[in-house]
Amino acid sequence: MEEINLTTLGEFIIENQKHYKSTSGEFSRLLSSIKLAAKIVNHSVSKAGLVDILGAAGDTNIQGEDQQKLDVYANDVFMKTLVNREIACGIASEEEDEFVVIKGKQGTNENKYVMLIDPLDGSSNIDVNVSVGTIFSIYKRVTKIGTPVQIEDFLQCGSQQVAAGYVVYGTSTMLVYTSGHGVNGFTLNPAIGSFHLSHPNMMFPKDGKIYSINEGNYVHFPQGVKDYLKYCQEEKDNRPYTSRYIGSLVSDFHRNMIKGGIYLYPTSSIGPKGKLRLLYECNPMAFLAEQAGGKASDGYKRIMDIKPTELHQRVPFFCGSVNMVEKAEEFMAKHPEDANYASLDS
Ligand code: AHG
Ligand code: MN
Ligand code: MN
Repeated sequence: MEEINLTTLGEFIIENQKHYKSTSGEFSRLLSSIKLAAKIVNHSVSKAGLVDILGAAGDTNIQGEDQQKLDVYANDVFMKTLVNREIACGIASEEEDEFVVIKGKQGTNENKYVMLIDPLDGSSNIDVNVSVGTIFSIYKRVTKIGTPVQIEDFLQCGSQQVAAGYVVYGTSTMLVYTSGHGVNGFTLNPAIGSFHLSHPNMMFPKDGKIYSINEGNYVHFPQGVKDYLKYCQEEKDNRPYTSRYIGSLVSDFHRNMIKGGIYLYPTSSIGPKGKLRLLYECNPMAFLAEQAGGKASDGYKRIMDIKPTELHQRVPFFCGSVNMVEKAEEFMAKHPEDANYASLDS
């Protein structure tokens, strides 16, 4: 029997407004827009194979429009959903060079929230029918309400996030988010098009047996990471661990949060600052990790304490079960020279 008697995301958002003293409903409307955009992107992701086949004939679809790459499409959907509704005052996206000011139809916009987004995470997986995701992060602007947003509204420490979350377009589609009161996961029921609270109060197990890293880059890794990987593979206590790497941060994180594990994307000699983006990927995942009892660091210090200096900044990322991240940090601490990645040229 199909279970449809679970709290919907819409109901959950309304119930949780009580956490905010003076709520104007603006934050709830923002989450509702994300929910809507997620459903639209989900619809396209789920037929990606079909679209590719149709598009192969001449690279135009049935309406004569050019085929778009799904990450560009996902970006457009999230941008338009927010911009047209004037639900935030600014957006920054991994797919856009600059942040976008949402002006408002009357030329004024009294909204206080900015959003940062990785519209399609794990995009190299899309052509091979493997799970991808969307990551979002929400802050209150720091500049004056009613004026155009400025770069400093986006370059805030992760610790200032009001909410963060992801959508995983997997065997089922889930939206997982936190607004600073724990992490809750909602599964899309495709038959009726609504998200239902299927994973209340998600928590990272304190320990785990899974490590997720692109080990093909081993020779390029810093010594601390190499030593930690050898530790993971050693036959001792409850090791060796299991290696699992999807190549889609959202999916690797989601699995590790449920089963217990660590995700690592360190610096390397070919990517001296790491690969992942502080604002669109690491901060939101760090907020979720901490809210779920896990931990996120750059190998040395807390991700959410890093003061961003540019929109598309990269950082190394160690994230997951608290005991596993702390063990990796022990190995990194033996090589303090690798902590200065931020000063290197990338
Ligand atoms: P994106 O698709 O948004 O560019 O992100 C891909 C990221 C992340 O999701 C994934 O874990 C990592 O890049 C994979 O990188 P490698 O292929 O270098 O392992
Ligand atoms: Mn990404
Ligand atoms: Mn992306």
